[in-house]
Amino acid sequence: MTQNQTDTAPIGSPCVMVIFGASGDLTKRKLIPALINLKQEGLLSEQFAIVGFAFDQMNTDSFRALLNEEITKFEDHPVDPKLWQWFLDRIYYVQGDFKDPAAYQRLKDQIAEADKNHGTQGNLFHYLAVSFEFFSLIVQKLGEIGLTKEENGKWTRVIVEKPFGHDLASAQQLNKELKEILTEKQIFRIDHYLGKETVQNLMVFRFANSMIEPLWNRTYIDHVQITAAESVGVEHRGAFYETAGALKDMVPNHLFQLLTLTAMEPPISFEPDAVRDKQAEILHALQILTPEDVLHNTVRGQYGEGSEDGQKVPAYRNEPNVSPTSNTETFVALKLKIDNWRWGDVPFYLRTGKRLAKRVTEIAIQFRRTPFMLFRKTPIKDPRTNRMVIHIQPDEGISWRFAAKVPGSVMKLGLVNMDFDYARDFGKSHSTGYERLLYDCMMGDATLFQRADMVEAGWAAIEPIIDVWKALPARGFPNYASGSWGPKEADELMQRDGRAWRKIGEEEEDAKSSATATENLKGPGAMTK
Ligand code: BG6
Repeated sequence: MTQNQTDTAPIGSPCVMVIFGASGDLTKRKLIPALINLKQEGLLSEQFAIVGFAFDQMNTDSFRALLNEEITKFEDHPVDPKLWQWFLDRIYYVQGDFKDPAAYQRLKDQIAEADKNHGTQGNLFHYLAVSFEFFSLIVQKLGEIGLTKEENGKWTRVIVEKPFGHDLASAQQLNKELKEILTEKQIFRIDHYLGKETVQNLMVFRFANSMIEPLWNRTYIDHVQITAAESVGVEHRGAFYETAGALKDMVPNHLFQLLTLTAMEPPISFEPDAVRDKQAEILHALQILTPEDVLHNTVRGQYGEGSEDGQKVPAYRNEPNVSPTSNTETFVALKLKIDNWRWGDVPFYLRTGKRLAKRVTEIAIQFRRTPFMLFRKTPIKDPRTNRMVIHIQPDEGISWRFAAKVPGSVMKLGLVNMDFDYARDFGKSHSTGYERLLYDCMMGDATLFQRADMVEAGWAAIEPIIDVWKALPARGFPNYASGSWGPKEADELMQRDGRAWRKIGEEEEDAKSSATATENLKGPGAMTK
């Protein structure tokens, strides 16, 4: 959250936040640190309390003791002891089974006590930090005991986090079950990518700057590349990942968020539905892939052994809880088209995978060549000189690449970068990515949350891929080495169109060496890093 936002933002509404699955990782890694940051920014109400609910045998005292011990491990900066004590004084725990009605009665009593102690005005915010099989059950039980009711100005909201189903039918079923108890306005579907500063900045960048919009269309843009690369493997999540794979785990949610924010039309206001309508339009405009398109325009991969940060690492099939003959994909590359006026014929290439060469998420906008190559006799590394990269993580920022004359008595062109760097220009923030989302939920602002129709449209768009891949199991896995940029077929996907994936890292190095060669270009407002 930026300083400006904090300066004008109202304090979050009073409420009790109930965390289901409170003993899990999310509470200590993200939720509590995010709440601490909100408190430090003056955005958390004094009338606030947390009730943790989980199966683990604990009580309020032992839960507080556990968090007290763990918070030091997960906070990336020292927490004021007084502020931490403020939290400890308002954290409670209820032990129980999610199926057990008696546990919900205990929960209800605990909420009532917290409400009385901290004056939370009867507002309730349930955070379901549990696996998706429990979403409907918990909501149903909450409904039965009256913990989803909104009356006399009190609000109740429920946050659920992906996966929202595992295909279109299961997503529709889940939405149906949630809506039997809750209204759409009460449901906040989190995609944690929308908590990232640079993702939120995409809208500001596009819609608060007049110089961008005239270029943002098929006339000037050749294609768009969206990359979400991870250097880590499947870690301890083998069992889950075996049932998901890279496509379901990353594409209909995180990658489609980046896609829709890049491609959407300007909304008529910053109201939640105005923004989400425009995002949904893009999902509906995605060209439906035929089985033939799936064969030509999608690539799947699975990592073999290789290295990560110079250390030897095992193949996916040798990871814990993974079948030694697994055909689950850990990499996917897709070429998609958006059937609308702005993007006709502009391909969007998406790729994501685990154990790739580098952890990096970015959107690269490749502009067309100049209509006439005036400098065609002048050597230049890449004639497609203009590219803009929105660096989502790490090293958040935006860079523009363009050609410049290398100083000297002969005409020589160099490629240079002009950069906006979040940390340099705004200072480092301690954000976990959850602050804004928790705050918005307390304020009832659903702009950064997914609506049911968006979730379903995302699944519908990848359904043809799921079907074809299921019918034709992958052959030749593993097909890329850990520490590489994925299978060669992903490169071929681009090469067939006369294009290439951006050489992440290398290109920055090239720009730096051009910068050394063009030392004199540096002056006020220097163009290179
Ligand atoms: C999660 C996926 O939703 O996003 C993980 O389930 C993935 O497999 C993670 O590692 C990536 O998130 P981030 O914020 O590290 O890019």
